[in-house]
Amino acid sequence: MLHVGINGFGTIGKRVADAVCVQPDMTVAGVAKRSPNFEATIAVDRGYDLFAAGEGGADPFEAAGLDAIGTVGDLVAASDVVVDATPGGVGATNAALYADHDTPAIFQGGETPTVAEVSFVARANYDAAVGADTARVVSCNTTGLSRLFAPLEAAYGIEKARITLVRRGGDPGQTGRGPINDTLPDPVEIPSHHGPDVQTVFPDLAIDTMGMTVPTTQMHTHSVNVTLQSAPDAAAVRELLADESRLFLVPETLGIDGAGKLKEYTRDAGRPRGDVWENCIWAESVTVEGRDLYLFQAIHQEADVVPENIDAVRALSERTASAAQSIRRTDEALGVGEGLVQHGAEPASVEGTADD
Ligand SMILES: NC(=O)c1ccc[n+]([C@@H]2O[C@H](COP(=O)([O-])OP(=O)(O)OC[C@H]3O[C@@H](n4cnc5c(N)ncnc54)[C@H](OP(=O)(O)O)[C@@H]3O)[C@@H](O)[C@H]2O)c1
Repeated sequence: MLHVGINGFGTIGKRVADAVCVQPDMTVAGVAKRSPNFEATIAVDRGYDLFAAGEGGADPFEAAGLDAIGTVGDLVAASDVVVDATPGGVGATNAALYADHDTPAIFQGGETPTVAEVSFVARANYDAAVGADTARVVSCNTTGLSRLFAPLEAAYGIEKARITLVRRGGDPGQTGRGPINDTLPDPVEIPSHHGPDVQTVFPDLAIDTMGMTVPTTQMHTHSVNVTLQSAPDAAAVRELLADESRLFLVPETLGIDGAGKLKEYTRDAGRPRGDVWENCIWAESVTVEGRDLYLFQAIHQEADVVPENIDAVRALSERTASAAQSIRRTDEALGVGEGLVQHGAEPASVEGTADD
């Protein structure tokens, strides 16, 4: 059993902790955070050992009636692998702590790529992280793009990718970013940082990215144009993408017209927190003109990196034989792909109409 410590129990950290919990080969060694807010009480309710990461140590937790059983250093010492899910830039300041304890560490996409030996997406470069001491699970947007590019590159080759990323203004809890009511080119400079970040996973990929930010907390939406090296028909591309466990081809029949209904669907399907771990690709948007592929996909920023963190834990600890084995194990335990009607699947029941 791998003991996984989670330093930072916010949007990403709490989801990773719950995902570790359901894996057959992992257990949560504990979670660290600074303040005794509602997420600290949730950690305690879930039965996770709580460790203090702030300068005040355990005092603020005790004052709030919460029992912090040690410091973040104690958590690292008790862990086989640490997942650092602290805010962007803080992870780099924690790197020395993990190295001092000789504890393999996983960082998040808010860190610069130099924080770790490998920028990681399980479907694209799992093997590069096997046995490494550090890996960085790339951002939600980079994860979503890399999952799409991996099968396209393998099946058809990619000549050039051009992506416009319509980014959510903030997460639901990020009240400090709002209220907002605008549509921003963000960043104004082209390419946005997303293209170079994808190149940390696919170094040879030709890609241009443009970013926008809009006033929603739901999901990011990508407008995708990929020039392939061959010219498949759209049906073949749909079939290829539908075969990928972390890509959900949204069937037209579901009547899902945007991120709001996608989130409603996964809440109705009983997903924890309504999380959407998969890229959501509108099946009818998949279009091929010559060698140019076009599609729209939505990415749930709070959720898509969660299964990737689990695979990164296995890669660093060298506990599984292959990427495919780890991905399958993660997906089965978490329920990735479950409860969603896939494009091309038979509807559960089709009512005939009187005049058909
Ligand atoms: N949110 C997203 O959409 C998203 C998507 C993909 C990747 N990421 C990346 O994931 C990382 C975490 O982001 P997040 O959105 O989960 O952040 P978050 O919600 O702000 O959570 C950060 C957590 O870290 C704790 N923390 C703050 N300062 C700390 C410190 N100095 N030492 C230890 N813990 C500290 C916070 O505790 P307190 O609350 O007690 O201060 C909180 O529990 C970032 O690199 C981010 O770029 C985020």
